Amino acid sequence: MRRLITPILALVVAHGAWANEGPALQDANVDLRDTASLQRGAKFFVNYCVSCHSASFMRYNRVAKDLGIPEKAVATDMMFTTDKIGETMQVAMKPADAENWFGVVPPDLSVIARARGADWIYTFLQSFYLDPSRPTGVNNVVFPSAAMPHVLWELQGVQRAVFKKEKNAEGKEVDVLERLETAVPGRLTDAEYKQTVHDIVNFMVYMGEPAKLVRYKVGAWVIAYLLVLLVAVYAMKKDYWKDVH
Ligand code: HEC
Repeated sequence: MRRLITPILALVVAHGAWANEGPALQDANVDLRDTASLQRGAKFFVNYCVSCHSASFMRYNRVAKDLGIPEKAVATDMMFTTDKIGETMQVAMKPADAENWFGVVPPDLSVIARARGADWIYTFLQSFYLDPSRPTGVNNVVFPSAAMPHVLWELQGVQRAVFKKEKNAEGKEVDVLERLETAVPGRLTDAEYKQTVHDIVNFMVYMGEPAKLVRYKVGAWVIAYLLVLLVAVYAMKKDYWKDVH
């Protein structure tokens, strides 16, 4: 048993050590059962993200069906790059233009929540800060030198970084990021902005694996079926054994 436990423990510890590298991530508290949050997230996503990013695995009519949004509402409030409800979320921008403007083509976001993790995206969208040395005017704590501008700045406002001096391993003084503070307030309060980002990330996690929602529903039916079966089987067992005593 010890021979088995040690490598497992080593793995757990190694994983923990790895997770501690880089800035701490905030918990996105993903909840795919919160349909209202998913609906809001879908709207924010198409309004603020699809101008640059595609989500080419995600069809508008699937969003309508899974999240219980009427197709008409999806067509008027959410479809800016197509008029076909069966179409996937394509980006309006030409890849060549995007490359000219940002130096890179903004990646497709269909499965980004699985690649980066929900907490990473949740923290990323809250961690832009002023940096005049960057072409976009901002930098990001979890994605240093990201080519993405702070597209939600009107909502969050603008943050500035506060650095402190620390000695590195060689005893040299270096600037270390201490915290971010508000330089210009946005339209939303801190709590409202967190909620907005939570909704967006919630939607992105759903988008990374839409079948999860279906599985939840199937799961509930399976449990109900098993419970009914249990009652029947128990009655049968009582009947079979009643003469044995
Ligand atoms: C103005 C264009 C633009 C908009 C709008 C935009 N992004 Fe981006 N985004 C980019 C670019 C460019 C990159 C590539 C950054 C890089 O590689 O340096 C990027 C990268 C990302 C990444 C990191 C992908 C990776 O490499 O792992 C995520 C996550 C992301 N964007 C999410 C979003 C979300 C969510 C929204 C909507 C709230 C959004 N983006 C809106 C331009 C944009």
